[in-house]
Amino acid sequence: MIYPFQHPELAKAYGIDVGGGLLMYGPPGTGKTMFAKAIACELDATMYVISPAQIMSKWVGEAEQNVKKLFDAAKSEPKAVIFMDEVEALVPSRRESESNVMQRVVPQILQELEGFDRKAGRALLFLGATNEPWTLDPAMMRPGRLDSKVYIPLPDAEARFKLFEIYLAGRPIEDDVDFSVLVENSSGYSGADIKAVCGRAASRPFLESVAGAPQRKIGMCDLLAVLAETPPSVNAKDAAKYRAWGENTGVEVS
Ligand SMILES: Nc1ncnc2c1ncn2[C@@H]1O[C@H](COP(=O)(O)OP(=O)(O)O)[C@@H](O)[C@H]1O
Ligand SMILES: [Mg+2]
Repeated sequence: MIYPFQHPELAKAYGIDVGGGLLMYGPPGTGKTMFAKAIACELDATMYVISPAQIMSKWVGEAEQNVKKLFDAAKSEPKAVIFMDEVEALVPSRRESESNVMQRVVPQILQELEGFDRKAGRALLFLGATNEPWTLDPAMMRPGRLDSKVYIPLPDAEARFKLFEIYLAGRPIEDDVDFSVLVENSSGYSGADIKAVCGRAASRPFLESVAGAPQRKIGMCDLLAVLAETPPSVNAKDAAKYRAWGENTGVEVS
């Protein structure tokens, strides 16, 4: 997705499509929103961040106009990324949807995506993120639409090690802090969970100091106590559900 944006001439020479639709899916707190921002930054493209609520409108006809305006603006840019977070709020399964607006807007977005001429020398990337991929309209996943799917899983041991490093960096920690033990005790925790654990561990010596105790560093005892009292926000059963969905819809990348 990124190289054709960065090397449009080369992509054109080899007949490689630039842009398209990409869906990031996975449990909450795994960094999907963060990655979307990083991608837009990497591509040096004009980014349109829109929420389903901005598009949807209770006024008949307005939602359609909003979609048209959005795609017209994005198409007039040399490089544009439309990022829609929590995309499931906009495009639930058409069968389940009661809303008339929804029933018109979903096909319209699909048409806009499909109708974009990828060889016209302009680049448009539609980036969606969802915690609930199974609620999406299967029609969204057809070729020319959100046809690339990227699974953003819970962090593995190596990633959790890095996450503890990131979120403890710049904080005073005792020599007894053992990252491999933190990794062992945080299986199933998301990136957001680990960030929260580090914050809570830091607040223990902080609150003691506020209450008048001598200032001390964050110790292994603080981190283990917080881990013990904070269960992971995603349970194992739910995590397996994402994997199963990806397999059933023919996931490309993970
Ligand atoms: N892989 C990661 N690397 C670094 N930080 C992460 C990661 N995953 C989550 N976080 C932290 O958790 C916060 C929430 O993640 P977010 O991007 O909102 O997750 P999602 O959109 O998947 O629910 C991020 O802003 C970041 O601080
Ligand atoms: Mg998010």
